[in-house]
Amino acid sequence: MYQGQQMASTQVRDRRHGDGQGEAPTSMLAATTDRQVGITLPPVPESARVAREFTTTALRKWHLDPLISDAVLIASELVTNAISHGTTATGSEGPGLVELTWSYQISRVICVITDRATEPPVMAPADTDAESGHGLRIVAALAAAWGWTMLGTGEKAVWAALHLPAH
Ligand SMILES: Nc1ncnc2c1ncn2[C@@H]1O[C@H](COP(=O)(O)OP(=O)(O)OP(=O)(O)O)[C@@H](O)[C@H]1O
Ligand SMILES: [Mg+2]
Repeated sequence: MYQGQQMASTQVRDRRHGDGQGEAPTSMLAATTDRQVGITLPPVPESARVAREFTTTALRKWHLDPLISDAVLIASELVTNAISHGTTATGSEGPGLVELTWSYQISRVICVITDRATEPPVMAPADTDAESGHGLRIVAALAAAWGWTMLGTGEKAVWAALHLPAH
């Protein structure tokens, strides 16, 4: 196992237990179909907990329990990034909301997180002693694939996919 994966695995263990504390922010169910659920989240730290709970509920509803722990951590890291790094735009509409959507596709589940920053996510070099720069390495270690795209509306989407468990 190369160093980056080792570091990510350690960080994964450390981050699996969210704080579970804090006031519930105002969030809103944005979209619900049989195979897609979405929520809008205000740019406050408590939204990471809402994202974790939302992800758990979605995957449990789809009977994808074996994926829940990885999916929760991925959503938590990407929503935290969207809040920390992706809502700094100061347009007339302010920093805006973050959106989290989970889609249940034929052979995978995908989460998409949108934010209002045009700066892309950049995975930091592996450094076990660094205090930051771990979130995307954790996502990369857990997800089958991840990436980002600009939406052309002053927004960006960051996504991560997990393969469905084998039957
Ligand atoms: N949604 C985003 N919008 C803009 N920049 C981002 C976004 N997500 C990540 N980045 C950039 O990518 C870098 C790496 O993100 P990463 O999550 O790995 O580390 P971090 O957020 O800085 O620290 P940590 O996750 O360990 O608390 C960030 O420092 C930031 O510069
Ligand atoms: Mg981060």
